[in-house]
Amino acid sequence: MKTLYFITSNKGKLTEAQERFASVGIDVVQKDIGYPELQAATLEEVAQFGVDHVRQQVNHPFILEDAGIFIDALHGFPGVYSSYVYHTLGLQGILRLLQGVPTAKRGATFRSVFAYTEPHAQPRLFIGECQGTVSLGEQGTQGFGYDPVFIPQGDTRTFAQMGTKEKNQFSHRGRSLEKLLDFFKKQ
Ligand code: IMP
Repeated sequence: MKTLYFITSNKGKLTEAQERFASVGIDVVQKDIGYPELQAATLEEVAQFGVDHVRQQVNHPFILEDAGIFIDALHGFPGVYSSYVYHTLGLQGILRLLQGVPTAKRGATFRSVFAYTEPHAQPRLFIGECQGTVSLGEQGTQGFGYDPVFIPQGDTRTFAQMGTKEKNQFSHRGRSLEKLLDFFKKQ
């Protein structure tokens, strides 16, 4: 079984990557070494900055990921600030910002950018998106982060009302992982 190191402190992301890669015999192993999150305009820049930082300490191939939720009615906010906003305003704060906004106007997009790199090589980026809506209230107990308030297009449940395998079938991360897997298959 091949081992793939995932630089993350987030157990939820780890579980989703492990779930997807286990079926093709790749063992995803967490490496929680931490890296500063650059305040940049795009997730791609944040991921690239993370790679540049981590590769000073790690001399084997690894993956890392940056993700965020972009809410239409808030002109893409919180986007690259999703982590900060989650820890400050929280989900209730986001729901308050959207108070009075009808379901038809509660569109949002989740984005995931995975970076894969080998020592001394240019990192490859793999991007996944998932469109959906922000629910009227928190629903569900599974998953992490914004999962209780995000309903993917094509379903009526939030991500937090789905198991890992099901979430992966819809989600931004499921899609970016799929692209990463295609890349590995062609190697
Ligand atoms: P980061 O990629 O760890 O910087 O994530 C940014 C913020 O988005 C954090 O608050 C995460 O909890 C949240 N987040 C990232 N991915 C997901 C997801 O798949 N579902 C729900 N929240 C997520």
